[in-house]
Amino acid sequence: MKKVFTLLMALLMFAFLSSCTFSQASAPQLNKQAISIEKGKSYKLKLKGADSGKVKWISKNKNIATVKNGKVTARQAGSTKIIAKYKGKKYSCKVKVMDSTITQPQIDEVQTSDLVLTVDGIKLDVEWENNKSVEALKSLAPLTINTQQYGGFEQVGDIGSSLPQDDSNITTQAGDIVLYSSNSISIFYDSNTWSYTRLGKITGKTQAELKELLGKDRVTVSITRAENKEKIMVVYFSQTGRTKKIAEKISEITGGEIQRILPADPYTDEDLDYNDSSTRATVEQNDLSVRPEIKNKISLSGCTTLYLGYPIWWGQAPRIMDTFVEEYDLSGITIIPFCTSGSSSIGGSANRLEELAGAGSWKPGKRFSTGASADDIRIWTESF
Ligand SMILES: Cc1cc2nc3c(=O)[nH]c(=O)nc-3n(C[C@H](O)[C@H](O)[C@H](O)COP(=O)(O)O)c2cc1C
Repeated sequence: MKKVFTLLMALLMFAFLSSCTFSQASAPQLNKQAISIEKGKSYKLKLKGADSGKVKWISKNKNIATVKNGKVTARQAGSTKIIAKYKGKKYSCKVKVMDSTITQPQIDEVQTSDLVLTVDGIKLDVEWENNKSVEALKSLAPLTINTQQYGGFEQVGDIGSSLPQDDSNITTQAGDIVLYSSNSISIFYDSNTWSYTRLGKITGKTQAELKELLGKDRVTVSITRAENKEKIMVVYFSQTGRTKKIAEKISEITGGEIQRILPADPYTDEDLDYNDSSTRATVEQNDLSVRPEIKNKISLSGCTTLYLGYPIWWGQAPRIMDTFVEEYDLSGITIIPFCTSGSSSIGGSANRLEELAGAGSWKPGKRFSTGASADDIRIWTESF
């Protein structure tokens, strides 16, 4: 009995000690150490392991973001810190506020509205599928396919190549466009059930209209790429306004949308003093790994040609340009670099940006003196 009692006591002691260890308060911790929020939106920060009523919340820059009981509200683009003060200690979270971003559906729209379908010369509106078969079809365009009426419900014709297929049993409706047997396209004006891969659907036509167009013995179907509309943009960084002037002239001449890269941490006159080797700009230029943060969001949506401008700092592009080309996806864009300087040429500065970007089609860059005339710039832009 005594033994049982001792064992029971030992067990109880063990349970008590374990519970003590587990319930021991761990050091308070913020649920996030860094957040990015869109202007106007909010995010709730929590100091885990702290008595929430005793936490004091402070924003380092209330113009960028405010905070109340841990709820951070983004006010304007830029960067700041939110501090949680608790029992004499400070816990900090970096906050980046961005202007509202472009939404994904707009990007999808650009990607899928790329193919144009005509039947006997009549252009039809099509909602194309976003799949590998349509991608492959795009790569074959322009295509002309002579199709034949079959079964009283479709026009079918040989594409001349095999496309990737992902067949499933489908009951078609008038307007459906499908891949049949990997190498034929079928356009329906009535219904059929078979194993197909969907390619798209003709919109804005009634079944009767589709029957009139597709019910003939033979038709000619053509699939072409939509003409790619050129969208020119001018993006630049400028500290003392010289590159800005050239950028504005380029924008006037080309009609390109102009956007300026702003540093999250602005450069002071002292930072730019190149007679002192310890000043910020010089220190940054001597360190290839520095990436100064960009304050604002640059939109490259739909951009096909980008004039990219910067001043020369110690023979190179300022490090903030490294940040830009690494942060933004330049694939599919033609990039035309330009710079201003005291006297140096553009040298290898643009080649380094091209390497860091790893994307885009880069043209040789050009240095402009501040006195460059509109004609100089026009002649140059017309050379592309
Ligand atoms: C830190 C720093 C380094 C510079 N290094 C060079 C240089 O290597 N060669 C040169 O010709 N000019 C140099 N400059 C001068 C700038 O390239 C020139 O003033 C430029 O036009 C400024 O453009 P912005 O007004 O758009 O900032 C330097 C300027 C600064 C601030």
